[in-house]
Amino acid sequence: MDLIPAPLHVQTPDDAAPFVLDAGTRIAAAPGTEGVARRLRAELSAATGFDLDPAPAGQAGGLLLALDETLAAEEYRLSADAGEVRLTAGGPAGLSHAAQTLRQLLGPAAYRTAPLPGASWTVPAVEIHDAPRFGWRGALLDVSRHFMPKAGVLRFIDQLAAHKLNVLHFHLTDDQGWRIEIKRYPELTGTAAWRERSMVGYRAGGRRDDQPHGGYYTQDDLREIVAYAAARHITVVPEVDLPGHNQAAVAAYPELGNTDVVDTAALGTWTDWGVSENILNPSEATLRFYEHVLEEVLEIFPSTFVHLGGDECPKDQWKASPAAQARIAELGLKDEFELQSHVIRHFDSWLAERGRRLIGWDEILEGGLAPGAAVSSWRGYEGGIAAAQAGHDVVMCPEQHVYLDHRQAPGDEEPIPVGWVRTLEDVYRFEPVPPQLDEAAARHVIGTQANIWTEFMFDGRDVDYKVFPRLAAFAEVAWSDLPRDPAARDWAGFEARMAGHYPRLDALGIEYRRPDGPRPWQRKPGIVGRPIDGRPGETC
Ligand code: ACM
Repeated sequence: MDLIPAPLHVQTPDDAAPFVLDAGTRIAAAPGTEGVARRLRAELSAATGFDLDPAPAGQAGGLLLALDETLAAEEYRLSADAGEVRLTAGGPAGLSHAAQTLRQLLGPAAYRTAPLPGASWTVPAVEIHDAPRFGWRGALLDVSRHFMPKAGVLRFIDQLAAHKLNVLHFHLTDDQGWRIEIKRYPELTGTAAWRERSMVGYRAGGRRDDQPHGGYYTQDDLREIVAYAAARHITVVPEVDLPGHNQAAVAAYPELGNTDVVDTAALGTWTDWGVSENILNPSEATLRFYEHVLEEVLEIFPSTFVHLGGDECPKDQWKASPAAQARIAELGLKDEFELQSHVIRHFDSWLAERGRRLIGWDEILEGGLAPGAAVSSWRGYEGGIAAAQAGHDVVMCPEQHVYLDHRQAPGDEEPIPVGWVRTLEDVYRFEPVPPQLDEAAARHVIGTQANIWTEFMFDGRDVDYKVFPRLAAFAEVAWSDLPRDPAARDWAGFEARMAGHYPRLDALGIEYRRPDGPRPWQRKPGIVGRPIDGRPGETC
């Protein structure tokens, strides 16, 4: 059956006849399952050409959907025999996962949007009991470095749902572009949503294009994205990065920058890759500006967690700025790290007062972690270990393992060699919970995510290539009950199941990296990267 991610328990009775789905099949949705039934009907009707009309709840035969309160919200059972296919779950999210499993059982063509001639549809007789390992199974999508139009984001959400991932960490702002409409501050999209040109590859290559780049989502676009994701039981966690990674915002509103040390009025949205020195000033006025921004963000995004970045904030301007130094003295702080911590703490309480929680990159540990903050551990496991041991929730996403901008094979043909080689097998052997954590601290690892930074992905086709097939391996790490010892994982078994999964990716129209390497149009000859030699961990 080649299910990916692998379910917890699967039993296949000997010699039992399969269920045949045909033009007479109906869907019976018990109370509470109507939303999942509507989507299952839409997807399977498109793929099969059958109407799959509703049947009265409780009617035997066909596809049956029901809730079972003895199961957890994301836990489900799928049982199929010649007479019926029954999906039950603790809540709609679990039922939605069951529906994805059903699609996989029906075969790759169930992922198409129109029927192929002569197709027949069967579900093998099976009993599946399944539940996820982690509650946060995420992917970060950076739409600042290269904007992804709304239709691409919706497509990406479908890809996450097909792999039972449930968090889209949406990286909406950065030095190189601001992508979210804020009605109170129109220059954030008027000025900060576009840049004049981009670097092509790393700085060392010295190559640039002359193509203006930009785009943004209106608030209605974002509401649509949030609702589309919610219908698939995916939470969109917005990221508004501060106080670093803010050159675009400073270019739009120069008063946000450190005006006593740089002529911020002369800045544009950044046209380089890397980490800009142009960070926010730490004044009360800047805090108010970002409160206003966040008021609109909270209106659009209902997620409990709101990501406020906090990463890679060079302190040079604060060191040189009399105003920032006066602020440090006035607040009785030790140094610039405590000043950054002051900013993050401010928004930690501001969010908590509004019933939300702050999550930030592991740099927010420096200068003291805000009381309610959760941590995305990206520079390695260390930040996550420290945070979990101090009782904070952690999402493990170490760059050495799950940064999908990094190349997925050695060799000259691999497009834009960035970072470490992280193969499909490497991702499959990634373990989110490090052995140093005792049981209580390990419970604070609420999940894991793969991060897709797009400096070197120019469009959605490049994103497809870098993300797949590795996101399939990542989904299994996040969902399945794999051996905690990476060496003990059944890589050969996963690889064999991937042979059945590639046709699903083909049916979804995903331009993944094939096991034998990039196709000619997937190469990027001559674009200079920044490969890091050696195994992850050896050089960092
Ligand atoms: C990051 O990669 N700067 C979070």
